[in-house]
Amino acid sequence: MDVPVIAIDGPSGSGKGTVARLLASRLGWHLLDSGALYRLVAMAGGAHGLAADDEAGYAAIAGTLDTRFETDADGNERVLLEGRDVTRNLRTESAGAAASRVAAMPSVRAALLGRQRAFAAPPGLVADGRDMGTVVFTEAPVKVYLTASAEERALRRYKQLKEKGLTANLAGLSQEILDRDRRDSTRPVAPLRPASDAVILDSTGMPIDAVVERVLAVARSRVPVDL
Ligand code: DC
Repeated sequence: MDVPVIAIDGPSGSGKGTVARLLASRLGWHLLDSGALYRLVAMAGGAHGLAADDEAGYAAIAGTLDTRFETDADGNERVLLEGRDVTRNLRTESAGAAASRVAAMPSVRAALLGRQRAFAAPPGLVADGRDMGTVVFTEAPVKVYLTASAEERALRRYKQLKEKGLTANLAGLSQEILDRDRRDSTRPVAPLRPASDAVILDSTGMPIDAVVERVLAVARSRVPVDL
């Protein structure tokens, strides 16, 4: 079945998560937050006491990941991992850094492939990650590579964490973002890079609504969306 997919890739803090969420809700399409899957694999591995380099162990967890994404009546997302509520820890910088490390393991990526593709269901899917356009949904009719300056990305992350009541340090965040960019874009398997047919959108200085409108404009030119 031909399900339209909007693939949004880009570095940490580029705003792709927020943009993907807003787009999916406006279109009434499904949402794949692929970074959350890598975060959950890393968390589960930690909880099971795996050594940091135990690729076979992480791949086994990725293949059988027991997780549920729920939305309560107020629209708040809740994420369960092996029955435990991990919503609060999932978005921390340390979970992101751990995810980036397991995401460099080829067999973990392979184990998550089918699970990610299964999110493509009618009426459509908005998929957010690093390799949505280059590996997971190579046939996606709409591919956007969303980026922003490293300074602005660090500042956005800082505000996001503060809003959630989490502690944050701007200088530390900037360094973590640069480290994560380097790790994600230099790994041999599925490195972060724009697909050859992606529209590159630099959102530095743009309000989020304007970014959503730009992505919608790209989508309208390629798939039938009635918005
Ligand atoms: O988007 P995020 O910050 O939640 O992603 C966490 C890490 O997971 C990111 O640093 C790299 C990795 N990742 C990936 O390699 N491929 C994806 N499709 C999504 C995330």
